[in-house]
Amino acid sequence: MNNEEKYFRLILKQLCRMYGVDFSEYRQSTIKRRLARRMAFTGAGSYHEYLDMLQEMPQEYNHLLHELTIKLSRFFRNQYVFERLQNEVFPDILKSKKEHDRNVLRIWCAGCAFGDEAYSVAITLVEFLKRKREKTDDYDITIFGTDIDEGTLEKARLGEYDGDAAREVKKGILDEYFLVSGDYYRVVDSIKALVSFTIHDLASETHMSPPAGVVTSYDLILCRNTLIYFSVPLQERVFLNLFKSLNPGGYLILGKSESIPKNHEDSFIIKNQKEKIYKKI
Ligand SMILES: C[S@@+](CC[C@H](N)C(=O)[O-])C[C@H]1O[C@@H](n2cnc3c(N)ncnc32)[C@H](O)[C@@H]1O
Repeated sequence: MNNEEKYFRLILKQLCRMYGVDFSEYRQSTIKRRLARRMAFTGAGSYHEYLDMLQEMPQEYNHLLHELTIKLSRFFRNQYVFERLQNEVFPDILKSKKEHDRNVLRIWCAGCAFGDEAYSVAITLVEFLKRKREKTDDYDITIFGTDIDEGTLEKARLGEYDGDAAREVKKGILDEYFLVSGDYYRVVDSIKALVSFTIHDLASETHMSPPAGVVTSYDLILCRNTLIYFSVPLQERVFLNLFKSLNPGGYLILGKSESIPKNHEDSFIIKNQKEKIYKKI
């Protein structure tokens, strides 16, 4: 290992100490590219120089964490997935709830960034229930949005966005579920009440799923555009946790460029290959 590589490893080690996140398990090409961007921004010419900078200005760690955990998201990202949720996934889940005389509905958006996705799921569910002339209050609904970046979750809890995040939201939905003022969009309280944001590391070896310490069974898990940043061994470990956290018959939705590891393919029915919608057998 050359000296620069040694300093690179030290930066990752420091991050792990600070935040408990082991970026050596992420795709190293992505991590190095994002780190280079941050170094260019700060003017550091080498890993060594950047490490010195981190030691002198510990607040730089937050910026680095933010840079390494890519936050790209928006409301109803990939509309088609939300159409399938409303027309196929929710009808199937609720039919099964009725058959078993249960009203508890648990949903987990893992790697939720600023919360756009979790709120989009909540709005889709409320719209579905409205169409079926059912009341949200008749169900015990919990939607968890989780991420490793607490700064991101603080913004998610506020539920306030700019126009870019809301660019795919249809007019009727905007009118009903957002308070709009200029280019500023605020999610209405009735939707916010359905979603809880909590910190959770998907790579954690101790906490399989949120909330910490509780064995949980989810009816639906969305983990989109997050696994793609992990190394293959980490993807498999995380995937196993997602699998164990799902109820039998529960649904898993991955990102467009993600897929189920080969050794788990038999545990799921592919409901929609293009949109990466799977149902646990
Ligand atoms: C590109 S965003 C995806 C947002 C949303 N799921 C979507 O598809 O629009 C990836 C998110 O995963 C989060 N993330 C990265 N590593 C994570 C980990 N180990 N545990 C939980 N979240 C993680 C990042 O902080 C970031 O907010």
